[in-house]
Amino acid sequence: MGFPKDFLWGGAIAANQAEGAYLEDGKGLTTVDMIPHGEKRMFVKLGDMYPVEEIPGENYPSHEAIDFYHHYKEDIALFAEMGFKTFRTSIAWARIFPNGDESKPNEAGIAFYTDMFKECQKYGIEPLVTLCHFDVPMGLVRKYDSWKSREMIDCFTKYAKVCFEKFDGLVKYWLTFNEINILLHSPFSGAGISFQPGENREQVKYQAAHHELVASALATKIAHEINPNNKVGCMLAGGQFYPYSCDPNDVWLAMNKDRENLMFIDVQARGYYPSYSQRVFKEKDIHLDIHDGDLEILKQYPVDFISFSYYQSRCASANPKMGMTDGNVVKSVKNPYLQTSDWGWQIDPLGLRITLNALYDRYQKPLFIVENGLGAKDEIAEDGSISDDYRIDYLREHIKAMKDAIEDGVDLMGYTTWGCIDLVAASTGEMSKRYGFIYVDKDDQGQGTLERRKKKSFDWYKKVIESNGEKL
Ligand code: BG6
Repeated sequence: MGFPKDFLWGGAIAANQAEGAYLEDGKGLTTVDMIPHGEKRMFVKLGDMYPVEEIPGENYPSHEAIDFYHHYKEDIALFAEMGFKTFRTSIAWARIFPNGDESKPNEAGIAFYTDMFKECQKYGIEPLVTLCHFDVPMGLVRKYDSWKSREMIDCFTKYAKVCFEKFDGLVKYWLTFNEINILLHSPFSGAGISFQPGENREQVKYQAAHHELVASALATKIAHEINPNNKVGCMLAGGQFYPYSCDPNDVWLAMNKDRENLMFIDVQARGYYPSYSQRVFKEKDIHLDIHDGDLEILKQYPVDFISFSYYQSRCASANPKMGMTDGNVVKSVKNPYLQTSDWGWQIDPLGLRITLNALYDRYQKPLFIVENGLGAKDEIAEDGSISDDYRIDYLREHIKAMKDAIEDGVDLMGYTTWGCIDLVAASTGEMSKRYGFIYVDKDDQGQGTLERRKKKSFDWYKKVIESNGEKL
């Protein structure tokens, strides 16, 4: 059976981890611009330390990142050489509305993205665009406390409308919020939320989530009104939870851990809060402020497809003494059957097949894997080559799992590997955690020439795409 003829092979990046040029051409500051590389990073990300202003002496990786802002032509040419059918990136909201709520958009920001999408079009690459990949304009954080406030719904839908109108004809595939469930685990980096002493944090997070869900549904409505060919997706930080054992307590916990993440997608894909949400809200003493019409909006404007990131499966045990493993902030019990990456992330290709099947069984909507890959340390040999066979092995096994899932009957639209060109790691702010087919000369201290260099995986992925997933 194999991959469908029109399968969207490609790669993914995000504005805040690649563009740099953080104040250029009128761009405003964003939440990610305020997250330093060093020890304070975690406190800021979790919402425990509100970043009022830049801390002198700290290194802020997003400020220059890999300077995609000035290198995009060269980079897109390399993506085209690999044969990309699609390229996922995000728009920095603060390039379009520097403070988030001006009456008119910033023309320079619109010009940048117009040119960049035209560059993709030149090579027949279909952009897949995230409207908000973690980077909320700081203007909105200062004025409204970000997604804690309902005002954000209007700010976001106005921004989304401008994007749908200005990039109509250039962009057809849209995602509203990157990894929407991450706001539960990393509230500031996920959604610009920090906490006041004594606040019920669960109440704050789920209220913010409600605002995002309504904003996402309204954006979907507007996208379809502007062009009925637009396809809008949601985006989940994915990875199925396994029960650690067949102890029913482990099974029950794993189910509930999955539900915690899937509640967002349940709303975005099915159009209503799932039945189990009421018990969750009661247990956490959450009283959502739901306005008249909100539930109708959620119902009427579900997404067209479901996208997700997959790095690893997760594991749950009712025994609190079990050892934990690393991951992109969603902590999980260590699975003794799995190997781990240099950063302690577990490697589980079969878990991708399991996740794809579980999501498709649950939603029966097309799926899109928009992030997957191996963060690893790469060495440049004396002859200048980079032999990243470990990355090829990782990707090969995951692509095989996708193929199996297609055989299982899953409707899979496409696959964009994460960080197709090396970029700043979201969790740690490091450059040395590399995902790319293309190496970028820059280190964790921000030093380097920014020169681009193909790795061994570059030619390998080119063949994968050329053969539509047959030559692995
Ligand atoms: C996802 C994010 O959580 O994981 C990306 O959407 C992120 O922004 C990716 O980069 C990988 O995580 P990290 O920390 O290795 O960059």
